[in-house]
Amino acid sequence: MTDAALASDAAPANPFMPKGAFAEKVTEVQHYTDRLFRFRITRPQSLRFRSGEFVMIGLPNSERPVLRAYSIASPSWDEELEFFSIKVPNGPLTEHLQKIKVGDTIIMKPKATGTLVNDALIQGKRLFCFSTGTGFAPFASLIRDPETYEKFEQVYVTHTCRQRDELKYSADTVHNTLNDPLVGEVAQGHLHYFPSTTREETQHMGRITELIESGAFYEAMKISPLDPETDRIMICGSMEFMKDIRRIVDALGFKEGSNSEPATYVVERAFVG
Ligand code: A2P
Repeated sequence: MTDAALASDAAPANPFMPKGAFAEKVTEVQHYTDRLFRFRITRPQSLRFRSGEFVMIGLPNSERPVLRAYSIASPSWDEELEFFSIKVPNGPLTEHLQKIKVGDTIIMKPKATGTLVNDALIQGKRLFCFSTGTGFAPFASLIRDPETYEKFEQVYVTHTCRQRDELKYSADTVHNTLNDPLVGEVAQGHLHYFPSTTREETQHMGRITELIESGAFYEAMKISPLDPETDRIMICGSMEFMKDIRRIVDALGFKEGSNSEPATYVVERAFVG
């Protein structure tokens, strides 16, 4: 990317804008609970990314702005960028980020990267995306990308949160995907959603790790158990969740992949703090 490309997208006058970063405008903010919210920003014309990747973002509010990794939740064909964020009390970035309003400026570094991408998995029949909390964000991008349905016959996305209201973002995204003029047709009959809660009564109760081990997940989805021969897995959530679910998929014979060595599963830690 050339400096000229960056300069054409960068705002001129903010004294706290780091060199070479994009200055983008907030276009929409939606709060779900006192812990979770979603926001959209303008997209720099020169930004290219693969669905599932993350970028570094922050606020131009100090000489050394705090930047954090955020998965891009929108698909690569979207004109804007969407993010799904936690609100951490006294979190160095999210304490301020949760107060953003339409028109505010967001700093974004120009490079997108990450391992939760179709390229890091070898060909398979079924794709399973397991998430907790804001770990759903990269999957919000992947399930809206037609390429995901070219690569996999069936896509199963799970989202586990403490409470019902925390599931609204994933429920809305899946609903909108199935009704989307661009991707709805290829997703219908191929995209399957499994929400669960751990601290408030909903249709499916429990951690996804427990529901996989007990078989309740397979029963609810009416599917055969995970099998490394046919299935590929993406995992995104808290450290503890990732540790536990890795133990399960490792024991089943899945092998961790990367961009340079694609295999049968990939992981990424969800943004916290
Ligand atoms: P729990 O309520 O039993 O802790 P958080 O909001 O803390 O990031 O958690 C999001 C969801 O992830 C919660 O439903 C939480 O369940 C679940 N969770 C936390 N730790 C694990 C884990 N080690 N394995 C599976 N799920 C987990």
